[in-house]
Amino acid sequence: MMTGVTGTPGTGKSAAADVLAARGHRVVHLGETVAPYVIGEDPDRGTDIVDHEAWAAAFVPVDGIVEGHLAHYLPCDRVVVLRCRPDVLITRLRSRGYPEAKCRENAEAEALDVILVETLERHPEETVRELDTTASTPEETATRIEGFLSGRLAPGFGSVDWSDYFLEAT
Ligand SMILES: Nc1ncnc2c1ncn2[C@@H]1O[C@H](COP(=O)(O)OP(=O)(O)OP(=O)(O)O)[C@@H](O)[C@H]1O
Ligand SMILES: [Mg+2]
Repeated sequence: MMTGVTGTPGTGKSAAADVLAARGHRVVHLGETVAPYVIGEDPDRGTDIVDHEAWAAAFVPVDGIVEGHLAHYLPCDRVVVLRCRPDVLITRLRSRGYPEAKCRENAEAEALDVILVETLERHPEETVRELDTTASTPEETATRIEGFLSGRLAPGFGSVDWSDYFLEAT
């Protein structure tokens, strides 16, 4: 059973996945697997351009948790989409030292539900669970992910609405 943990950069995927790994779950950090599929560099964003489709096609599924903002491109059995209120997200990204344009772009993508929409285009609704991390520690997020894995927490999404924050950001 492969579980994807996806979400906009800064929503806390890696932080929650590190907690899950410490609790004994098998975790693959997808950022470490894309290097052979980098096809260029985006100078405006300061990010690599990855051939998502080629990477996803070559990925050998694992029995465990795959974490990264491309996780929903993989044939996951279940997908967790981490969310964070855009004004809080932008603070997390700035504290990482990201360029302001990159911080704003990610906060806008979060406000517009981009990753959730991409996930629902690729996965059945009953396999998707959205989790708001705005006021949660990575440990609390990890515990909720475990709840979804064990069936204690039902699938579901649509609990957040960041549209007001998009208007504020523009
Ligand atoms: N639940 C949380 N509450 C507060 N801060 C958090 C939380 N989770 C993560 N952070 C902080 O937010 C920042 C981003 O977290 P993290 O690196 O886990 O995000 P990510 O989703 O893995 O991002 P990326 O897609 O860029 O890898 C880090 O500085 C981390 O310490
Ligand atoms: Mg990460």
